[in-house]
Amino acid sequence: MKNTQDKLGRTLRDLRISVMDQCNFRCTYCMPAAVFGKDYAFLKKEELLSTQEILRVVKAARKLGVAKIRITGGEPLLRKEVVEIVSGISKIGGIQDIALTTNGWLLPRFSDQLKEAGLTRINLSLDSLDEETFKRMNGRGKSVQGVLDGLDAALKAGLPVKVNMMVEKGVNDQDILPMATFFKKRSITLRFIEFMDVGNCNDWNASQVFPAQKIVEVISAQLPLEPLDPSYRGEVAKRYRYTDGSCEIGIISSISHPFCHDCHRARLSADGKIYKCLFSAFGTDFKKAIRSGVSDDELTHKLAELWRDRDDRYSEIRHQLSKKDRKVEMSYIGG
Ligand code: GTP
Ligand code: 5AD
Ligand code: SF4
Ligand code: SF4
Repeated sequence: MKNTQDKLGRTLRDLRISVMDQCNFRCTYCMPAAVFGKDYAFLKKEELLSTQEILRVVKAARKLGVAKIRITGGEPLLRKEVVEIVSGISKIGGIQDIALTTNGWLLPRFSDQLKEAGLTRINLSLDSLDEETFKRMNGRGKSVQGVLDGLDAALKAGLPVKVNMMVEKGVNDQDILPMATFFKKRSITLRFIEFMDVGNCNDWNASQVFPAQKIVEVISAQLPLEPLDPSYRGEVAKRYRYTDGSCEIGIISSISHPFCHDCHRARLSADGKIYKCLFSAFGTDFKKAIRSGVSDDELTHKLAELWRDRDDRYSEIRHQLSKKDRKVEMSYIGG
């Protein structure tokens, strides 16, 4: 039952799995401390999908042609079973890419085990090299060095790393060039992400977006760039290479250049709901089905039906929608 297409002709290729809705950071644009304080109703342990339940969804997705899995959170390394989950996915067979998106803080502890378990690569978030800016943005006073130690641990373990920098106008746009220079010297791919209107609590406003085109201008004025073709169809980041051949960068422009037409991603929340779009208000409960004893074939069929019925393309139509519509939080759905 391969190559299931949605209503807009898009195939299901990637599954992004949030394994934990909690995080050890409180980034102002994702989990502002004022909202995600000690009274916030995070998922309880028994509400989380177990490792075996996650693996059943992965197997169903694999049968529909999914060959790329991304483990996310919140912060996925806070999930006790994260290594076991990666190992289980790698043993299913046919999943070519098992990637992890993390803030990096716990990588010194987990990198070797993750590599051993079959993880193929890491996307690490770092929004600034300036200690004060970074501490303010991550909301928990975490140091830049702590994240860089995580980056080094991952590289040492043999895991390729790309760095994600979320850019918010007036907050860290002054760090674009220092970040580009630093990671160019280390030949590490740095990707810049436009501040998105995801979730309900980051007070997003279009005026806070530092657009992709301006990011390219800021960098190329000092460090000349040339555009590259995507490395795979539907790649979220638009790629550029420094003309001196040193390395490349990427820009994720969900606001200025939406990429919904090529969106092949389904998302599984930590409590077992499948979301067809990062900006959906509701997901479809798979945990209930699993815990009520459905067979593997029934699970695969349920996922295929859901995907066939998909016509989501939020970023392409955001200006037509009401700002009041509730959306899922990014820390819950995993970006
Ligand atoms: P690669 O496989 O390395 O290309 O990773 P990726 O860019 O798909 O994943 P990552 O977790 O590093 O995401 C980087 C940024 O892209 C995050 O801010 C994500 O929320 C955003 N992103 C990823 N997929 C989508 C998507 O389908 N829609 C939108 N709007 N943003 C996305
Ligand atoms: N806009 C853009 N990127 C965001 N991220 C989290 N929230 C937002 C947002 N509102 C980024 C993180 C991380 C990636 C998974 O998503 O910085 O790099
Ligand atoms: Fe945590 Fe990542 Fe959200 Fe920051 S962006 S609060 S590190 S999940
Ligand atoms: Fe995919 Fe929704 Fe993002 Fe568009 S907005 S690229 S449909 S997740």
